[in-house]
Amino acid sequence: MAFSPAFLDELNHRNPIEDVVGQYVALTRKGSNLFGLCPFHGEKTPSFSVNPEKGIYYCFGCHKGGGVVNFIMEIENLSYPDAVRFLAKRAGIEVPEDNLGQSQYKKKERLWALCKEAARFFNDQLKTPAAAEARAYVAKRGLSASTVTRFGLGFAPNAWSALLDAMTAKGYTKQELLEAGLVLKNEKKGTLYDRFRNRLMFPIIDVRGNVIGFGGRVMDDSTPKYLNSPETIIFNKRRNLFAMNIVKKSKQGFIILTEGYMDAIALHQYGFDCAVASLGTSLTQEHADMLSKYTNEIVLTYDGDAAGQNATARAIPMLEKTGLRVKVLRMQGAKDPDEFLKKYGADRFRLLLQGSENQAEYRLRSLQMKFDLSSDEQKVEFAKQAADLISTYSTAVEREIYGARAAEMAGLTPEVMKLEINKAFKRRVAIQRKAQEKKDLEAANTRQPRARSLRYDNMRSAMAEENLLRMLLRQPDLFDRAQALTREQFSVPMFGRAFDALQERWRESLSVSPGSLSDLLTPEEMAHLTQILQKPDVVLSDEAFDDCVHIITEEYGKTQIGGLSDIKAMQERLLKKKGYGGT
Ligand code: UTP
Ligand code: MN
Repeated sequence: MAFSPAFLDELNHRNPIEDVVGQYVALTRKGSNLFGLCPFHGEKTPSFSVNPEKGIYYCFGCHKGGGVVNFIMEIENLSYPDAVRFLAKRAGIEVPEDNLGQSQYKKKERLWALCKEAARFFNDQLKTPAAAEARAYVAKRGLSASTVTRFGLGFAPNAWSALLDAMTAKGYTKQELLEAGLVLKNEKKGTLYDRFRNRLMFPIIDVRGNVIGFGGRVMDDSTPKYLNSPETIIFNKRRNLFAMNIVKKSKQGFIILTEGYMDAIALHQYGFDCAVASLGTSLTQEHADMLSKYTNEIVLTYDGDAAGQNATARAIPMLEKTGLRVKVLRMQGAKDPDEFLKKYGADRFRLLLQGSENQAEYRLRSLQMKFDLSSDEQKVEFAKQAADLISTYSTAVEREIYGARAAEMAGLTPEVMKLEINKAFKRRVAIQRKAQEKKDLEAANTRQPRARSLRYDNMRSAMAEENLLRMLLRQPDLFDRAQALTREQFSVPMFGRAFDALQERWRESLSVSPGSLSDLLTPEEMAHLTQILQKPDVVLSDEAFDDCVHIITEEYGKTQIGGLSDIKAMQERLLKKKGYGGT
């Protein structure tokens, strides 16, 4: 994104990282770093560090890191340019007008305002005589007045241009209404009409409180049951969850993930202020990442049907990958939480929550369902697979408990099952030991970046490049001694790019700080760079610096010669083939 270096410099300067991070995390000083509890993963002891001098943050637990812009991207769930604009606004500085991105942000601001107006309009309509049927439906679904207010529910009138007229009267253009997904175009006549008609309306609000879209439910059996706003520049279904704006303030310590708006809303009404819903799509990795910022534990309450169970199976690994604990809630006698609450009440639901299976149980039960345990053959196969599964459970107590449970399911004695599990456990340990040995052998690997895509090809040069950058960032006048070095000579492309950019900033007398690189490096690369910078300090000396330059040039030279000799060898082979070479 084309923000000028001078602007970004100002931006970084006016948004000191310790102030910005300090608004989200309580920080305490320890030496030159500040420490706090990492906002990106659950933890009890602080491993999240901020270095004001370098303008970076880094978490020793989850290895997230970067400059102030990266921090805002991550915590506010924003794209790079939007994070820049967010910080500009925070510091009260103008974003340079001449770039396209700026007008894009202005446009987003217009669409947010429009959607908020639309939500207000729908909400007002719910109070009109024309909305008698909608109010009756609200009552029938058991939604209280305070729920209607809390979620800003509304009614889209049974007319073709009610919203269109109301919003154009407020100064919004047809184009803006189209771009917000609120109206559709009749291609034949070229006229516009309201997308949502005669529906109960659910505003969809992002974590920061902006209305970004709507879901609308019919009040009878017609189809589609729910109509949702399309994807727009402000509405990304992969990144947003319904009710997340409320849930982020919940003190429950866990988040309940449901399949539908009505389930989430019912849960809130019954006192569970920690329920969210995905927006008519299945859960994405982005959703999982976002959830992990707000909680350590997720309770899945998808429907009991096959589709719901598939969705559960898909969601578990995505959630676990982010470090979240996952539990699965099994309901009997109702198809979804909304129905359950109405039938049995909040206390029964709380009991369900307390008894909700951890995924150790869930996995065993899911496995059981795959087999017909009245057949001996299937029993044997089940016992084998169950033993494999249980052998992965990390404590002896768990293996004992679930072993006994599996034995019971298969009608075997606990002893036989235990034997099987031990065998599987030993196999696993052997495999792990081998893997460990291999890992030890590749000790150099520990110096490899965490992200596979950044792996070093030339370790000697890469180490020199790391040190060189660390020294330059500590003492920029060392650039004087690196005049001959060029970006191509770096074996790690991201280091070459960083070097180039920093050198240019140094020449233009702008600040040489890692934070200024966040427009040039991907978040992954930024995290890697900050990790390097957080290593114990380098020895700063001209000699040490010259050594780095020397190694980088030397290693680069080798690749050049290597390249030449390859060509030579190829030529010789060719000559031989043609019968010119040899005897
Ligand atoms: P369900 O069909 O399970 O509905 O859809 P529900 O949550 O039980 O809703 P009620 O109780 O009948 O009102 C679950 C979710 O799937 C999406 C919606 O996001 C809904 O909340 N969906 C469903 C659609 O997007 N379109 C549809 O036509 C149906
Ligand atoms: Mn339902």
